Amino acid sequence: PRIAFVTGGYSGEAEISYKSAVTISANIDRDKYEAYTIDVRTDGWWYTDPAGVVHAVDKNDFSVAGIHFDAVLIGIHGTPGEDGKLQGYFDMLGLPYTSCDAATSALTFNKRFTVAVAGMGGIHVARSVLLVKDLFESPETQIKGLRFPVFVKPNNGGSSIATSKVLTPSEELGTAIEKAFGVDSQVLVEEFIEGRELTVGVFRREGEVVTLPITEIRSKNAFFDFEAKYLGASEEITPAEVPETMAEKTRAAARKVYGLLNCRGIVRIDFIYNEQVNEPFLLEVNTVPGQSEASIVPQQVKAAGWSLKEFYSFLIDEALA
Ligand code: DAL
Ligand code: MG
Repeated sequence: PRIAFVTGGYSGEAEISYKSAVTISANIDRDKYEAYTIDVRTDGWWYTDPAGVVHAVDKNDFSVAGIHFDAVLIGIHGTPGEDGKLQGYFDMLGLPYTSCDAATSALTFNKRFTVAVAGMGGIHVARSVLLVKDLFESPETQIKGLRFPVFVKPNNGGSSIATSKVLTPSEELGTAIEKAFGVDSQVLVEEFIEGRELTVGVFRREGEVVTLPITEIRSKNAFFDFEAKYLGASEEITPAEVPETMAEKTRAAARKVYGLLNCRGIVRIDFIYNEQVNEPFLLEVNTVPGQSEASIVPQQVKAAGWSLKEFYSFLIDEALA
């Protein structure tokens, strides 16, 4: 089969997409698939052939130099690969792809909507307030009911870009909100949940929702920020060394979230496990989880005894099926 592997993207996470692309490219089974890497950029969508010639993608039918594809492997974090836009486009073209559908991608890209829907399904979530630019009262008034510390995040974003932890109601809060509004028109202010940070890859195999081994993240920074994620300022333990009830409750919550949100393909679901309540609290769902050298899902795949080549082939074959 002929596969288009799309990388790049329009957000600050494009640089992470290129890091993921290194791993994915190195592990696509080229004996099995004819793979074309397509770079989705704001200045166009490009394919560079083995001779170094650059071709523009024909967006009317998603072809390059007259070549059409059987399926798309989506490797773009952030917009337009993780928020449902490309998914809707490929649906219109009738092209299968390896990720959640357009509706689920759009829903899960919105952190507030994700916790709202999961919360309705009985999943524990932190209390939060969504600030919308130029709407409603002042941020201070809106978040009056929240307990500090809080996290301030762009509501639609990833990789902890423009995310801050704010300890007390202070000037810092205003700075954090401004920073998040710099990249998004909606800002999520969320109560900090004390606990252990656990994250787990989830996918479906033979109709059954299954999990990869859980990872525990121990950040050297105040939280799992951009530096901790990609520049090594964190320790990640896979499989997590946690009590079995903690692991099982986390896996069960992850499977439930996957089902509730109608996910497809590999997603990574992030939780904080609070030991007072003895429950995992959902932070977010990543429908195009990072695959870089430093990323978590590749570590979990290997810990589960798969090679990355086998795993990516599985995802592609599932899309093709
Ligand atoms: N948003 C990054 C890529 C992740 O979830 O891994
Ligand atoms: Mg994320």
